[in-house]
Amino acid sequence: MSFRLQPAPVARPNRCQLFGPGSRVALFEKMAASSADVINLDLEDSVAPSDKDSARANIIAATHDVDWGTKTLSVRINGLDTPYWYRDVVDLLEQSSERLDQIMIPKVGCAADIYAVDALVSAIEAAKGRKKRISFEVIIESAAGIAHVEEIAAASPRLQAMSLGAADFAASMGMATTGIGGTQENYYMLREGARYWSDPWHWAQSAIVAACRTHGVLPVDGPFGDFSDDEGYRAQARRSATLGMVGKWAIHPKQVALANEVFTPSDEAVAEAREILAAMEAAKARGEGATVYKGRLVDIASIKQAEVIVRQAEMIAG
Ligand code: COA
Ligand code: MG
Repeated sequence: MSFRLQPAPVARPNRCQLFGPGSRVALFEKMAASSADVINLDLEDSVAPSDKDSARANIIAATHDVDWGTKTLSVRINGLDTPYWYRDVVDLLEQSSERLDQIMIPKVGCAADIYAVDALVSAIEAAKGRKKRISFEVIIESAAGIAHVEEIAAASPRLQAMSLGAADFAASMGMATTGIGGTQENYYMLREGARYWSDPWHWAQSAIVAACRTHGVLPVDGPFGDFSDDEGYRAQARRSATLGMVGKWAIHPKQVALANEVFTPSDEAVAEAREILAAMEAAKARGEGATVYKGRLVDIASIKQAEVIVRQAEMIAG
């Protein structure tokens, strides 16, 4: 094992990130009243080019006027391949209230993308004497993004979270689908005439989780487009949670409860984790490094697994 300890990510709940277009001001109070841990006000792809300026003004006003409670307040800026992003950063950092927590950078392709935004943000924070240091989150949603995922995860001490953006990712990869996340009809294995569906997002998710865990960043699953399909959303979210992701986006308010349900450790899971820790304490007192819990092996690695669940539950409760 490396002597370098794995850094812990920021200790805040990130079970659900609720999105809303910056051009739909009527949604802001509803978003603030939701049960999402993170609010993402969007300047990017849910806002038409003709509305970019007014959306920016709406969002800046909402950092002053709307009571966002204890939620993490994040704004998705436009990509670095657009003419909009520098104005997004300049206006947000110069004019938004100190309530703004985070900037989401979409379509990152390399560490230098984050360096560029970091340089601009750092200069404006210093010039304006802003007290709160703005944090970053990024979306991996291109072939370049996934190819450079580790250098991106390491790119800035401001970086707190990284999401997989399934739709743009699929387009960039040339994937033969128009679905946004979830099961893909043509991605199956055949055995004795029966079809077994596989998960086309698995590799990208695992790569994101590994990069994030290496560098102390929260790994998050992005959007699930079919908001009429609750079971599909749950299944996708459960796979993500099993792989180590801490939360998922909601692109419609009805998805918030689904994400909170999946990404909050259940009472049963927490009770079992505590029992495993107790069984290992008892084993340690007997001078043993391994023991049996409910007919299965538990050892020192099981302590770390159980602690992940207990820590997550305590952080959410606190
Ligand atoms: N946040 C909070 N409330 C929302 C909401 C959101 N993102 N989207 C819709 N609502 C509200 C509606 O205002 C409505 O409220 P009401 O019952 O008080 O009238 C209720 O939830 C039901 O909305 P519905 O009619 O089903 O949705 P819609 O047709 O108004 O909007 C979408 C559907 C998908 C266009 C909208 O949810 C949306 O813009 N989502 C976010 C898109 C986005 O930001 N994408 C970028 C990231 S991928
Ligand atoms: Mg996108």
